[in-house]
Amino acid sequence: MLFNNNLKTVFYPCCGLDIDSTLNILGEKSYNFIFCDIKHYNNWGVKQRPNSSVKFLKMDATEAISKLTKIDILFYRRDGTSEGGSGIEVLGDEYLSALFKKFPTSDGQIITDGSNAFGHRLDQLKLGTVRCGGYNIQLSKTQDFSKQGLINFLVSKGGQNV
Ligand SMILES: C[S@@+](CC[C@H](N)C(=O)[O-])C[C@H]1O[C@@H](n2cnc3c(N)ncnc32)[C@H](O)[C@@H]1O
Repeated sequence: MLFNNNLKTVFYPCCGLDIDSTLNILGEKSYNFIFCDIKHYNNWGVKQRPNSSVKFLKMDATEAISKLTKIDILFYRRDGTSEGGSGIEVLGDEYLSALFKKFPTSDGQIITDGSNAFGHRLDQLKLGTVRCGGYNIQLSKTQDFSKQGLINFLVSKGGQNV
């Protein structure tokens, strides 16, 4: 399916080979999926999902933000700083501030395992004390992906979401 402006866009930076599993995790709903990695992987290609679009961006994860018009959901997991990891602080202020420029004013989401959240960052995110780019991040009351070790956060401008 072609990119559909009426659907929410899921952006997954540093995705590597993690395509089918992600599509299965989020597969109950229809989305525009944007998978991004600095390398091209063999399992990238045509992915048929009913009522969803799937695109691949071989690009630096920071540069990719500027190429996208809208992002509703950040999906990010299993990254690191050792060999093979991006070392990018995707959950840090700088990256999130750039990302939130493409976010809606309410009902944005971050679904993550807390990769590359250094120091107390993940605790601060869970406590709801992180504010960047004019957006607040709150732990969602619904944790639909806990079985997969993923935490669901809500993102809203000015912090209207709880
Ligand atoms: C540890 S792997 C994680 C892959 C994936 N998240 C998973 O769950 O399997 C990190 C990935 O980040 C990619 N990477 C490294 N630097 C990057 C960059 N600057 N921009 C985008 N991807 C990058 C690597 O190519 C690698 O595929």
